Amino acid sequence: MKPTAGTPVIEWHETLDSTNSEVRRRIRELDNLSVTAALRQTAGRGRGTHRWCSAAGENLTFSVLLRFSTAKPLPGLLPPLAAADQQLITDITTLSLLAFLREEGVQARIKWPNDIWVDERKICGILVENILRGPWVESSIVGIGLNLNQRRFPDNLPNPTSLSLLTGRKYDLSATLERCCAIYAEYIHKMSDAEGRKSLAEAFKQHVFILEESRQQGLDEAIARFEASF
Ligand code: BTN
Repeated sequence: MKPTAGTPVIEWHETLDSTNSEVRRRIRELDNLSVTAALRQTAGRGRGTHRWCSAAGENLTFSVLLRFSTAKPLPGLLPPLAAADQQLITDITTLSLLAFLREEGVQARIKWPNDIWVDERKICGILVENILRGPWVESSIVGIGLNLNQRRFPDNLPNPTSLSLLTGRKYDLSATLERCCAIYAEYIHKMSDAEGRKSLAEAFKQHVFILEESRQQGLDEAIARFEASF
């Protein structure tokens, strides 16, 4: 049966190199809002040249494919999004994760450009890869690494945390991913009209912070040391 429009469909894999890389390889066959999740990534990617390290079977590592109409709205695709407005993809992704964490009793903030921090610790990293067609976004591969159950991290990883460390609870990966995707679908919907877009941009501004330059530099150096240790 064809899924209802607007409902993310989740495909779980035991092992992938990277869920973003898998979606990119299969981009022509995957539907709008399809979700590719892996229990284990062997080459998880972070922003730029960074890696994403996540203990197998303990956290969520998944990618959502957003497919947009270009120029005129088409059935089965999201309304057109101008390349100039691609920040909205980060807005909906970060805000939906904040909403999920709020439901779990955790107040989080967005660390510019698109990390999710709780107090001084990173709980979630996001890798957005957009494919443009002229002045339009044609598709977006939104990769999300959300630390759920991992309680021990490498000593030299600068400032990690997980939902379990914050709440003391253990999370079911599949049910949690379903909930995250349901909330994400609501935020995707908010992007469909001008008023929704305006309020998303405002909400992002309210929740984002920029780390002071010297602290960011210290963090970058610590991450570089961590990655050099592999
Ligand atoms: C960052 O903080 O630099 C971004 C990390 C993004 C990690 C996620 S895990 C799922 C998806 N697949 C990847 O290879 N990366 C993203």
